[in-house]
Amino acid sequence: MAGAVQSGNFSKALPMNGGHGLYSYSKNSTYQNTICVSDMGCSVGPNTFVAVQNIVEAVLNKYQSQEHDHSSLPELQVFLNDHALNDFNTLFKSLPPNRNYYVAGMPGSFHGRLFPTDSLHIVHTSYALQWLSQVPKEVEDGIISEEKVDSFNIPIYFSSPQEVEATVERNGYFNLERIECLPLEKSQDTIPQKSRAVSYHIRAGLEYLLKEHFGHEILDELFDSFNKKLEKSQVFQLGLTYSLLAVLKRKET
Ligand SMILES: C[S@@+](CC[C@H](N)C(=O)[O-])C[C@H]1O[C@@H](n2cnc3c(N)ncnc32)[C@H](O)[C@@H]1O
Repeated sequence: MAGAVQSGNFSKALPMNGGHGLYSYSKNSTYQNTICVSDMGCSVGPNTFVAVQNIVEAVLNKYQSQEHDHSSLPELQVFLNDHALNDFNTLFKSLPPNRNYYVAGMPGSFHGRLFPTDSLHIVHTSYALQWLSQVPKEVEDGIISEEKVDSFNIPIYFSSPQEVEATVERNGYFNLERIECLPLEKSQDTIPQKSRAVSYHIRAGLEYLLKEHFGHEILDELFDSFNKKLEKSQVFQLGLTYSLLAVLKRKET
């Protein structure tokens, strides 16, 4: 917040105390009472709305449990981030109508700087950090011409818990409060059903990239073949798939 008063025919700026000292505005602006949350890589919904609602409820519950009355509960400002090419229209059109938070879009890559210093309280991200900032050097083999395959890389990497721990340590700004491998939900689906669901899921996420490089003609055959490979693989029987949950807390500065 910055103030201004009219005095005669000029207006005089009344800046808040700068810096981070005892009487600084940054350390004493809690009456603003706004908690800023961001979901990085939100896509077009609906998962982001579930995640955001959980966060909002957790924050409000915490305040209520500390006996804050209704008038002193914080307001929540949620930033939904994804690449500028993300379908933000679909995202905004499907926002929950009775939400108890404010929403703004934040377009751009989270590999770059998106927010001003000290402006976010909670940052959430789900199934998005596997996307790398650039393509790796190695390539996987595929079903298309060798030359096309050689010039294609999927910029995705799934880290192990140990790698996440090492990265957080190296970064130095956060404590790793919790890290857990969550098994995928058990389902009664048959292997062909599971394979098809995974194949559709991957297609929803990667089709754009594959189409750009190989053309749309190969997509049906490619995913058909991928589906068959999945069915034959042991991935479901061996329970090799899991999601990694990591909770980081910024160190006091
Ligand atoms: C698999 S979707 C996950 C969507 C949602 N978070 C969920 O859990 O359902 C991954 C999303 O991350 C976004 N994403 C990937 N890399 C990103 C980056 N560097 N900056 C912002 N968004 C990114 C993609 O555009 C995509 O919408």
